Amino acid sequence: MSLVKVTIDNIEVETEPGTTILQAARKIGGKGVPPAMCFYTSLEGSGGKCRTCLVKVTRGSDKDPRPMPKLVPSCRTVVQDGMVVQNITSPEVLQARRAITGFLLLNHPLDCPICDQAGECYLQDLSYDHGLAETQTIEERRTFVPIDIGDKIKLHMTRCILCYRCVMVADQLTGQRVHGVLNRGDHCEISTFITRAIDNDFSGNMIDVCPVGALTDRTFRFSSRVWLTKPFDAYRDCHKCSGKTVLWMKNDQILRVTGRKDKYGELESFICNDCRFEQKNVEDWVIEGPRIIERHSVISQNHYEQM
Ligand code: SF4
Ligand code: FES
Repeated sequence: MSLVKVTIDNIEVETEPGTTILQAARKIGGKGVPPAMCFYTSLEGSGGKCRTCLVKVTRGSDKDPRPMPKLVPSCRTVVQDGMVVQNITSPEVLQARRAITGFLLLNHPLDCPICDQAGECYLQDLSYDHGLAETQTIEERRTFVPIDIGDKIKLHMTRCILCYRCVMVADQLTGQRVHGVLNRGDHCEISTFITRAIDNDFSGNMIDVCPVGALTDRTFRFSSRVWLTKPFDAYRDCHKCSGKTVLWMKNDQILRVTGRKDKYGELESFICNDCRFEQKNVEDWVIEGPRIIERHSVISQNHYEQM
């Protein structure tokens, strides 16, 4: 199969036909990779919802060199041979990203000081990079009462940016859909179809895929700021999942168990609820060593490894 050549922010990369601009940019790596709040490689059909990954295509391809008339979502646009793309080199893209960050924050509470996701929240990082210091609106934000999704997961709908990742986990991973998005527009909300809990072995992965603090782990909530814990790669023999996890520890206490994420925040593999919620004793695990944190976020503070 012959590779296609694409240039992103003046850097040329060769990639397989069918690759999206976002994935091609990830091949290059570094600051030129567009942020992605809704795309998730392992979730089929994800992407195209949040618009944070918009880029400018200044040359369509060798065959048709015309530029694309509008900014396009890089997670959904496939590269063509000879395509030229601008991401952070385009003032128009940066301006659009600033506006989109504003839209995502329209109804999002500024409760980072009490939110468990603080320090590893993609919206927090996005607003540090692209947000305005002051709000442009005076209207009231949407309010919801936090609800429990089963006995292990808390939903703060006020923080949700409707990226649909958790719905796709429920659809594609748990094989039992009891959770989805109800209503339209400003009235949209994640619902468990009133009060039905998601008691499936893999439902906890919804917490890991949520880019904000809308879905949090009830066994960890308010135990510690994440940057004050130390992450370790660990594994155990598990007959339901790979058993490969990250233990978030304070001294010899395991405060939280999560899946292992790459530098784009995507899980290397989904883990089962047993590993995530029930195995909190150090003796339950074989500890491999410190987890390298590869994120440009508060969570990288105080850790012995930084990128
Ligand atoms: S709860 Fe989280 S994962 Fe689910 S749609 Fe909202 S932001 Fe996305
Ligand atoms: S990541 Fe592309 S639209 Fe959300």
